[in-house]
Amino acid sequence: MLFQQHEQSLLVHAPAKLNLFLEVLGRRADGYHELETLMIAVDLYDTLSFTEITTEAPDDAIDFHGAFAFRQPESGLPLPQEADNLIVKTVQLLKRETGCRRGVKIRLFKRIPLASGLGGGSSDAAATLMALNRLWRLDLTDEELHRLAAQLGSDVNFFLAPSGFALCRGRGESIQPLSFQHHFHFVIARMHEGLSTAQVFAQCKPAAIVHSAMPLIENLQRGDAASASQSLYNALQPPAEGLKSELRELKAKFNELPVLGHSMSGSGAAYYGWCANRKLAQAAAARLRSRGVPFVVTVQSRC
Ligand code: C5P
Repeated sequence: MLFQQHEQSLLVHAPAKLNLFLEVLGRRADGYHELETLMIAVDLYDTLSFTEITTEAPDDAIDFHGAFAFRQPESGLPLPQEADNLIVKTVQLLKRETGCRRGVKIRLFKRIPLASGLGGGSSDAAATLMALNRLWRLDLTDEELHRLAAQLGSDVNFFLAPSGFALCRGRGESIQPLSFQHHFHFVIARMHEGLSTAQVFAQCKPAAIVHSAMPLIENLQRGDAASASQSLYNALQPPAEGLKSELRELKAKFNELPVLGHSMSGSGAAYYGWCANRKLAQAAAARLRSRGVPFVVTVQSRC
């Protein structure tokens, strides 16, 4: 998460994430699934600007507007502008929890596609928690911010952590920050339509034999991308492929690219390839674009 003061506004660049490993350990009584997942932040950012409205504002005074940075397909989801938007829900939760009566104007410039498993909505929510804690001088501790984050969504806690690389357990909200010194390169692609997280989880079966993230973590920390990329794993990929034939077609396109390994991120529908260097990532992106894939970006890990 990158913060920048710009005149009266606080600008926040909220990163996307990739799941390099995701195992589903079991179903829980609360309807969620117990996970073990390895997440890494990458340099694809939504940009949010927060400007304090100084006059005392009623609880519903949240001036929010969002716009996409890229052309949306006609079948694409619209950007939720009001009550459905996780940013607005985050402001409402903060107001309820702290009794703060201040207002805020929020503008969102969205580069991370919706419903893609890249964590854009969760990252925006974490950005909002941190930005308003500063702007409204709420003095919430990290522990209090994490408690609120867990109420907003399973991935929000990951984006609060400064490390940008973590092993996450529980619903995904219990994070163990990790570190490594290397930069890794990826190409990310998505077909026209996204996938609903709830629908993908509803189709998944908890693992009979549990995979371990440890070989991947050890290879990452050694900087050995070639070995690490052989251990990419996502237990949500088979159910997601069952729901969306476009995803199977995208995977087939990645099979023909010179990438070290490839996988779906989170609950999809974004798919990524791990590349040996930036040049190869850009070459892979050009190939995907020439084959009609509508959303393609190259990114680098942020750790
Ligand atoms: O936590 P979040 O709002 O991102 O989750 C969206 C939906 O995905 C949940 O309502 C649930 O159906 C499913 N989910 C799950 N297990 C998880 C995380 C999400 O079943 N660990």
